[in-house]
Amino acid sequence: MNRTSLPKTEVLELIQSVLKHDKSYKKGNVISTMCTYPNTFVQELFSKFIDRNIGDANLFPGVVQLEQEVIASLGELLHNPDAYGNIVTGGTEANFLALWAYRELSGKHTIIVPETAHFSLYKSANILNLKVKTIHVDKNRQIDIAETEKAIDDDTFCIVGIAGTTELGVIDPIAELSKLCLKYKLYLHIDAAFGGFVIPFMKDMGHDISDFDFALPGVTSITIDPHKMGMCPIPAGGILFRNKELTKKIEWSVSYLSGGHTAQTTFVSSRSGASVIAVWGMLNYLGYEGYNDIIKQCLHVRDYLLSELDTIDEISPIEKPTINIVGVTSTKYNIVEIAEAMRDKGWAISLFTKHMRIVLRPSVTKKVISAFIHDIKEVLSCIQAKI
Ligand SMILES: Cc1ncc(COP(=O)(O)O)c(C=O)c1O
Repeated sequence: MNRTSLPKTEVLELIQSVLKHDKSYKKGNVISTMCTYPNTFVQELFSKFIDRNIGDANLFPGVVQLEQEVIASLGELLHNPDAYGNIVTGGTEANFLALWAYRELSGKHTIIVPETAHFSLYKSANILNLKVKTIHVDKNRQIDIAETEKAIDDDTFCIVGIAGTTELGVIDPIAELSKLCLKYKLYLHIDAAFGGFVIPFMKDMGHDISDFDFALPGVTSITIDPHKMGMCPIPAGGILFRNKELTKKIEWSVSYLSGGHTAQTTFVSSRSGASVIAVWGMLNYLGYEGYNDIIKQCLHVRDYLLSELDTIDEISPIEKPTINIVGVTSTKYNIVEIAEAMRDKGWAISLFTKHMRIVLRPSVTKKVISAFIHDIKEVLSCIQAKI
């Protein structure tokens, strides 16, 4: 720390000099992330209410009301306006809370997840001392239902299905998982951290996508993250339980807080009220139509990307995308070499075992895709020339 005060301008300059190489979600070259650049309005909301701490609920009853309204809106989107939940730090905390709640209710220690599960589920299992049974995915990259049923034993308490996998945006056969969970009396948590703000709109647009949410009777909780396709600033994850009863074993009573006695069902104790307000603000500012237009546009750009990929022999989509995530692979060249060469050209690329991931968010426009295609053609020519 500096011994004496520095002028604000100098502090800002010092910070900016360190941050100058950081990338921004605003720029199209961050083509792989699931997060979005928050617009000016939501930035204003966030900073205006930066002091609100919903962890001390009775000090901020207005924020508590806004959180309840946010959860009701997300619940409505996911076919359960009576859902109970919270705006949390992200998908990781949301997934953790579901597993924690169910471990406490069941007293059991084994969960079942597809091999495509996000690593936050393994992190959570590690903290909660759970055994994870990892199930293979089939040729459609969806959890294998027969293998899942075989894996259920007396210690199993929960199955996790993914609605929008991290790697490719695939949706597991949630209706089948729902049936299994009802049959074996298991909890079913759906990780729709990314897909939650995409799939409902695509279904309404008429895309052929099966049910994945509370419309299915076996689904007991859903992760849906406003800080991904909800267009909100980090941190803003969402956890929705079918009802409040499911959280009764993770409800912590706190008596000493300034606002008086309160009860929390989150892991984090002091919690950003600004995040809640930002989510309420965006849900109402954009409205259903606004989100619908954003998703439509992202899918339009996705289709443009697919048509451009079609013109290049050496690379192709690893499979037909379900949502606004495209995996690009090459049967001819090493995808790692391609991705690294693209990174050298300034592209921020997520790399999986066999493909690079492109996430079509609002900042990834057709212009960005054209530049990406231009650069990848150059990279492919260089690789070709080296052979
Ligand atoms: C499907 C899925 N679940 C959970 C997470 C974790 O979310 P967060 O990084 O907000 O904790 C991610 C992150 O990419 C994800 O893709």
